[in-house]
Amino acid sequence: MKAIAVKPGTPDSVHLAELEKPSVTDIPNGRGVLVRTLKVGVDATDREINEAQYGQAPPGFDFLVIGHESFGIVEEVGENVKRVQPGDYVTCTVRRPGGSIFDKIGRSDITSEEEYYERGINLLHGYLTEYFVDDEEFMVRMPVGLKHLHVLAEPMSCAAKAVEQAMLAQQRLQVWEPKRAWVTGSGQIGLLSTLILRLRGMEVWTLARGKKPNLKAEIAEGMGSHYVSTADKSLKELADECGKPDLIIEATGSSAVAFECMEVLGHNGCIVWTSITGGERKVDVPSDSVNLNWVLGNKLLVGSVNANFRHFESGISDLALGDVTYPGVLEKILTSPVDGLDNYAEMMRLLVEDRDALKVYVNVAEG
Ligand code: BGC
Ligand code: ZN
Repeated sequence: MKAIAVKPGTPDSVHLAELEKPSVTDIPNGRGVLVRTLKVGVDATDREINEAQYGQAPPGFDFLVIGHESFGIVEEVGENVKRVQPGDYVTCTVRRPGGSIFDKIGRSDITSEEEYYERGINLLHGYLTEYFVDDEEFMVRMPVGLKHLHVLAEPMSCAAKAVEQAMLAQQRLQVWEPKRAWVTGSGQIGLLSTLILRLRGMEVWTLARGKKPNLKAEIAEGMGSHYVSTADKSLKELADECGKPDLIIEATGSSAVAFECMEVLGHNGCIVWTSITGGERKVDVPSDSVNLNWVLGNKLLVGSVNANFRHFESGISDLALGDVTYPGVLEKILTSPVDGLDNYAEMMRLLVEDRDALKVYVNVAEG
């Protein structure tokens, strides 16, 4: 079987590797689900793994198959599998349990262990290959009517978790009805978070660098959000003009913006940080005034990574609702298909160089 892999630790090592075809019996207790891969999305994580910023090969291998945004069709199931059957469209979660109490209760997304196991990212092979197998516990059904949104299920699960974390954490306030929400960043997480907040009835501002007109603005506005280019208006100017936000979902990939958000959040507000910033950047922060305002305003900052089965399910429900509420808008995120695993170089080129590629994905097979 062909697979797209990197050599962890060696920059720009993306290549075609060879893997043995998996089988349902690789998973114990008749719980295996064998999936024929149809499409796999790639994101900044895959780019940074190829830049050797992080990512480790599974034990016994000197390469790591990348790709953690999966979409495929079930081909065969073990005798004890109940929830999925051959012919179902599925996506598969990313993280696998370690040993902490959180891992044991199905919450590997909040593992307390520093070492984490993620398919396509750390210590486990990913989905950029022809077939994959996993325990039914990690398989999430995609309704056939959402087939056209395929690889968005995984990024949507991360957005679903980010919003859920804010809602859960804000129960500390006893009453919290966020009205004004900002989303910083208009990559896939930013746009999908925008969708969830709009579906929850909030007034949403989606902030990003690009000036209008551009595709990201068109998508955000297509969901009824206000798109603001930070080239035209600073965060402070926007807060003065429209009021400080109750909630900020931060998804720019810039740690500087993540800290800048702390200067504009409203009283009792909550910021969720979702970006993974692999670099070594340092910025000055007005620490006295942030400290003062955060204490006087009882503000909250939450980090959110990954997503578990439940977040995939709620994300998929919101994709369905979003697709009928804003028809034709969500599929505009899927800008950049690449045909076949053989075209791995083009896949990485789009990911690294093409500023207009909002979502790069590989068409692995028809189905
Ligand atoms: C993935 C998450 C993962 C995170 C950290 C993201 O790109 O979508 O599932 O937990 O990277 O590795
Ligand atoms: Zn990702």
